[in-house]
Amino acid sequence: MTKEAPIIEVRDLHQRFGDQHVLRGVTTHVNKGETLVLLGGSGGGKSVLLKHFIGLLSPYSGQVIVNGEDISEMNERQLSKVRQAMGMMFQNGALFDFMTVGQNIAFPLRERGMKDEAEIERRVLESLDIVKLPGQEGKMPAELSGGMRKRVALARAIVDRPECVLYDEPHAGLDPITGDSIDHLIRDLQKNHGMTNVIITHEMRSVFRIADRVIFLKLGQIYWEGTPQEMKDSGDPELLDFIEGVAREVVIS
Ligand SMILES: Nc1ncnc2c1ncn2[C@@H]1O[C@H](COP(=O)(O)OP(=O)(O)OP(=O)(O)O)[C@@H](O)[C@H]1O
Ligand SMILES: [Mg+2]
Repeated sequence: MTKEAPIIEVRDLHQRFGDQHVLRGVTTHVNKGETLVLLGGSGGGKSVLLKHFIGLLSPYSGQVIVNGEDISEMNERQLSKVRQAMGMMFQNGALFDFMTVGQNIAFPLRERGMKDEAEIERRVLESLDIVKLPGQEGKMPAELSGGMRKRVALARAIVDRPECVLYDEPHAGLDPITGDSIDHLIRDLQKNHGMTNVIITHEMRSVFRIADRVIFLKLGQIYWEGTPQEMKDSGDPELLDFIEGVAREVVIS
C-alpha cells in the first residue's frame, strides 16, 4: 500500500522576530485525517508554527508545503485559495462583537466572494448544527457563554468545509464538561466529516482522548514526537513533568 502524501509538510523552518530566534529548524508533517496535538511550554513557538500552516506568517527560511504546494513564497491571492482548505480557530476565539452569530459564521464565505445568500444561510445553519448550537444564529456574541463562543468560533472555522482545522487552545478557559464537548466535536469532525485536526492545548486529559499523535516543541525545536501512550511510557522526565505539571496546574486552579 502506498502511503498518502501528508496534507502539511514543514521543512527546516526558521522564524525570527528581530533578535529572537523563535523557530529553529522545525521539520515535521501532518498526515491526512489524523488528529495531531502540539504540546510545549509557553513561548515555545506553538502558535507561531500553527500560523505558518496557513501562511499567516511567512518563514524566515525553510518551506511549508500544503497539499503538495510550497506556500512560503505565495502572494495573498494564491494564499487565499490554500486557506479555503484550512479552517482556523484562534487562541482568543476572536468573534466580531458587532456581528450576530450567523454573520460571524458566514464571514469566511463572504470574504471569499460567495454571493448566493440561500447557500450561505444553508451552510451557516449546517455548521451550527454540527457544533450543537441550532437556532442561535440571531444572537450577539455578548449574549453567549464562553463555551458557546468557542463553539461559534469552531462553526466559523468549519463553515467552508475545510480539509483541515487548526485550533489554538480550544479548551482554554472552559470547565471540564464544556471542554469534553469540544473534544467530542473534534472527534466527530474527524470521524464523520473526514477532517484533519491540528490542536494546540495544555489539557492533557483531552490529549489522551483525541490525539493520534503528539509533537512536543521546546525552544523552537521538535523535542519529541509520538503517540500519547508512547509519551506516557517514554520515561523522559521532561515529558512526564509536563504531563504531571499541567495536571497539577489544573487541580490547583
Ligand atoms: N508577531 C510576533 N512578533 C514578535 N514576536 C512574536 C510574534 N509572535 C510570537 N512572537 C514571540 O515568539 C515566541 C513564541 O510565541 P508563541 O505565541 O508561538 O508561543 P506559544 O508556544 O504559542 O505559547 P503559549 O502557550 O503561551 O501560547 C514568544 O516569545 C512571542 O513573544
Ligand atoms: Mg500560543
